[in-house]
Amino acid sequence: MKNPRVPLAAVIGWPISHSKSPRIHGHWLSKHGIAGHYIAMGIEPAAFKDTMQQLPKLGFVGANVTIPHKEATLELAAEVTPRAKQIGAANTVVFLPEGGFRADNTDGIGFINNLRQKAPDWDASAGPALVLGAGGASRAVLWSLLDAGVPQILLANRTRERAESLKQEFGNKISVIEWSEISEATKSAALIVNTTSLGMTGQPPLEITLHSKAGTLVTDLVYTPMTTELLRQAQDKGLQTVDGLGMLLHQAVPGFEAWFGTRPEVDETMRALVLE
Ligand code: ATR
Repeated sequence: MKNPRVPLAAVIGWPISHSKSPRIHGHWLSKHGIAGHYIAMGIEPAAFKDTMQQLPKLGFVGANVTIPHKEATLELAAEVTPRAKQIGAANTVVFLPEGGFRADNTDGIGFINNLRQKAPDWDASAGPALVLGAGGASRAVLWSLLDAGVPQILLANRTRERAESLKQEFGNKISVIEWSEISEATKSAALIVNTTSLGMTGQPPLEITLHSKAGTLVTDLVYTPMTTELLRQAQDKGLQTVDGLGMLLHQAVPGFEAWFGTRPEVDETMRALVLE
């Protein structure tokens, strides 16, 4: 017999009020006429383990997990996907029929699927990628670029040691460069990705001068503002750009498909939805 319950899913974090995920999944649920619900759930770290044991008993089929639960999710999982293991954090959980849950990370695939949708001509093998930043977002981007077949990644971070340690983990396709060399490095990069918070509203600017050749693709994970100074400079120089909002939408696709059984589309109307 099919599960007689209405399928439920949640985004779990602490605090949680800022999450856009309920809008994204709510839109898809109604678009596809699925009798399910997706809610935001504020759960303190001390209550997280117990919550993850109780939720499937209440009809939850899965969840997104966000700060501060991304690492704890990996530790508690019955199964961890290889990409979540390599990225070192989970953002999507599927409860298993036999008990426990599978932990996945869909940030990297969301990043690359957004690039593929917005810049279909981008060819991963065309040349090196320049990645700015070595935090959690960078780990997902590095995984996805290597998985897509990028031949080399020039990695720059203000704190060089963090970039060096990512090289240790992700292997010798990563070349660490000095933060002061980022403008120079744009000459050889076929793809430029900002994973730092620089350029975000309220944060310091990203100081970089693009010396890129025609055909270079420039993308920024920052989407407030939507057109960052990096993207504006790239556009002024005739380079192709992709903004960061789509990654947020695309990372939600695999979770929705696993929980509700339908693969949803990311379309233009959804961009307006999360910006409201
Ligand atoms: P996230 O999970 O979003 O990647 P994070 O792990 O806090 O967040 O990483 C933030 C990134 O932005 C890091 O690469 C950080 O550089 P450091 O490792 O040197 O801290 C980068 N960043 C933040 N503020 C910066 C600044 N003022 N100048 C240069 N880089 C900065």
